[in-house]
Amino acid sequence: MESAMEKHKVLALKYRPQNFREVFGQEHIVKIFQNAIEMKKIGHAYLFTGSRGIGKTSIARILAKSLNCDSGPSITPCNTCPTCREIKDCISKDVVEIDGASNTGIDDIRELQKELLYLPSPGKNKIIIIDEVHMLSKNAFNALLKTLEEPPERVIFVFATTEPHKVLPTIISRCQRFDFKRIPVEIIIKRLKEISKAENIKIEDEAMLIIAKKADGGMRDALSLMDQVISYCVNSITVQNVREIFNLINTEVFNTFMQAIYERNPQKIVNAFRKKIDDGIDATEFINNYLEYLRQFLLVKLNIDLPDMLPNEKKIICELVNFFSEDEIVYIINHLIETKNSLRTSSAPELLSEITFVKLAKISDMKSMKAILEKIQSGKEQSIEIPNPRIITYTKETECLISKIEEKNHQNELNIRVESAEANSTTIQTNTENNLNNSEKVSYRLENEVLKREFSNKKSELQQFIDITESVRIK
Ligand SMILES: Nc1ncnc2c1ncn2[C@@H]1O[C@H](COP(=O)(O)OP(=O)(O)OP(=O)(O)O)[C@@H](O)[C@H]1O
Ligand SMILES: [Mg+2]
Ligand SMILES: [Zn+2]
Repeated sequence: MESAMEKHKVLALKYRPQNFREVFGQEHIVKIFQNAIEMKKIGHAYLFTGSRGIGKTSIARILAKSLNCDSGPSITPCNTCPTCREIKDCISKDVVEIDGASNTGIDDIRELQKELLYLPSPGKNKIIIIDEVHMLSKNAFNALLKTLEEPPERVIFVFATTEPHKVLPTIISRCQRFDFKRIPVEIIIKRLKEISKAENIKIEDEAMLIIAKKADGGMRDALSLMDQVISYCVNSITVQNVREIFNLINTEVFNTFMQAIYERNPQKIVNAFRKKIDDGIDATEFINNYLEYLRQFLLVKLNIDLPDMLPNEKKIICELVNFFSEDEIVYIINHLIETKNSLRTSSAPELLSEITFVKLAKISDMKSMKAILEKIQSGKEQSIEIPNPRIITYTKETECLISKIEEKNHQNELNIRVESAEANSTTIQTNTENNLNNSEKVSYRLENEVLKREFSNKKSELQQFIDITESVRIK
């Protein structure tokens, strides 16, 4: 029978893996430990690295049980003998867990060294687990190092850290290192399925997908999110519930956005936005959701496979993507990131967002820097008309093109010069050597932050800027 306590335990604790079979997504590590236990080749110091809630402590405890189980050592500890139970309940004298984050001083390490003087129980091993080992002070590290140099018999250290680069190399070199992986969405879903079955909870597949994605590779996070959802919906969970709880916006809204941008319809886009605001969605939340959507959009455009996308959502995005160039998508993303940053300090977040959306709806007026440069390069075009408002994007492709122009420049085929006219405007001037009359001038105003390249004296310099919003004209 499940005790009342057990019933109210959070899922992450209730479903801590108690044997190797229950560890998800870390097969590469499980396998090595199983072999080591079977071959009785256990090292005396291990370093577990990886982000939060992906099984480091769990595996350390399973290892302890495997080694100390009364009917062990075994790769399938019984979990019922007194030793296994003590380890499970964290009261075993032979398994010491120390939190490096709160025991950072040398005194704590002295305490640990004293602890080491107590031998493990007869026939057992002493397993010392130090969490967040990188937080130990330098002195504490050194004291620990001494212990590591002459490891006491039957003592096994397991160090865990989320920040391996902060662990001293002298410690790392004395350990066998295991890099834990973030757990893929589909594996998190598998675990969520198991748990919801055990808990008698009905949950829609798409709802699980949203939770698994939001957990961002962490199983503990996934289970905590699940707790949150359960406390709201009890035992039947729909996608709609989950969207509401996490303040997620339906993908359809963003599909509408993309359509409106393509149709150059600012009214449509602003109305769709206002509707969400009226529903109580906050502007920052909205932009964050939109960015997440655009990430998928861009990946689809680049033909990068997304395992964590709903099939029907993918289908629509695949269609919409055809209406946009890579440059345009990057442009939209850049604009939103900029808006997101400005929102932090803005007292009128909705207004600011609306202005951005209206600008986005003008995207088809956008002329790519690439197109302009191509014309310059060809040396044929004398003037290029660019409609208002004139927007330019600048991407990797453009970068390549510039290199080509630069090369030509070098061979004296083309002269490109940049002059600063006003404080925030720059002039690019180009001359073709063989026809000096055919000199062209491009001037544009710059608003901070896109990549800007300056050509002067046949040298070029890269500067940072993101957007060029004012006029571009070749005179
Ligand atoms: N690989 C996994 N398989 C199954 N459950 C897991 C896994 N990783 C984590 N969990 C779940 O998350 C909980 C916490 O895991 P654990 O304590 O092992 O994480 P950790 O990596 O030590 O995290 P931290 O860095 O925060 O200490 C477990 O009780 C379990 O419910
Ligand atoms: Mg841990
Ligand atoms: Zn046992």
